[in-house]
Amino acid sequence: MEAMTGASQEAGFASGLRLELGLPGTLAMHGLELQDETTHATDACLPERLRGASPKRRREFIAGRLCASIALSGAGYGGPAWLAQDSDGLPVWPKGWTGCISHSTSMVLAAACPTSTRRSLGLDIEELGTPRHAAEIASSVGQPRELALLGDWPSAVAVILLFSAKESLYKALFPRLRVFREFSAARLVAVSAGRLRLRLEEDWGTGWPAGRVVEVRHACRHNHVITACCPAWADTGA
Ligand SMILES: CC(C)(COP(=O)(O)OP(=O)(O)OC[C@H]1O[C@@H](n2cnc3c(N)ncnc32)[C@H](O)[C@@H]1OP(=O)(O)O)[C@@H](O)C(=O)NCCC(=O)NCCS
Repeated sequence: MEAMTGASQEAGFASGLRLELGLPGTLAMHGLELQDETTHATDACLPERLRGASPKRRREFIAGRLCASIALSGAGYGGPAWLAQDSDGLPVWPKGWTGCISHSTSMVLAAACPTSTRRSLGLDIEELGTPRHAAEIASSVGQPRELALLGDWPSAVAVILLFSAKESLYKALFPRLRVFREFSAARLVAVSAGRLRLRLEEDWGTGWPAGRVVEVRHACRHNHVITACCPAWADTGA
């Protein structure tokens, strides 16, 4: 498997992350550092739509699947765990299991847990880029009043943190609700140590009305921001 990915495990990258992100003990995480060497992924490991993709995209996809497989195993899943991809681009988790995959240019992270303990999970990893990049995307990520709540952070970090938190929220809800939402569909309303609270600014779907507040946790590793959203689901059947 390692030979296929071109990725090597970074000792300790994901260690302590689950606790720091306040994720349940039934959940397992696995992280890899992506390296620039050639990906040796065989076409058999890739869905049809990725067979002509760039080496970078093939490498991150395979590394994500590898992390997901190790996370599933770490969480106690005993079956074969090379996840297929559905028509929306989502990983197809084994029945009774859920999780999430995220990659940056240099890092890949995945988490998995039984759906009996969490019905969905959003996870996002973002590299801290240049202040110029952050400034360019700031207005599309949030309003000045949201960024003001993150005033203890350098502004470039604040923008990426808010961006990542909203992506985590979206990644937690999309697999069940299957609705696209812009970054304006959630607003940062409160910040405390390691926690951001986002308020839905519009209806997202059954059980997720405008006004509902969702918590996103965050941590930092190796010039990256990592966020996780592990919301409680009302018994809506969603
Ligand atoms: C889907 C999206 C969130 C992915 O984020 P990203 O930072 O580009 O990519 P990440 O590396 O974090 O995640 C990609 C992985 O998430 C999974 N994924 C793909 N689409 C997804 C979706 N709609 N929902 C949840 N997970 C998704 C896949 O596993 C994918 O990796 P893979 O294709 O290698 O398997 C992003 O591209 C997007 O569309 N954002 C706009 C919507 C949004 O975030 N709105 C904010 C509302 S407040």
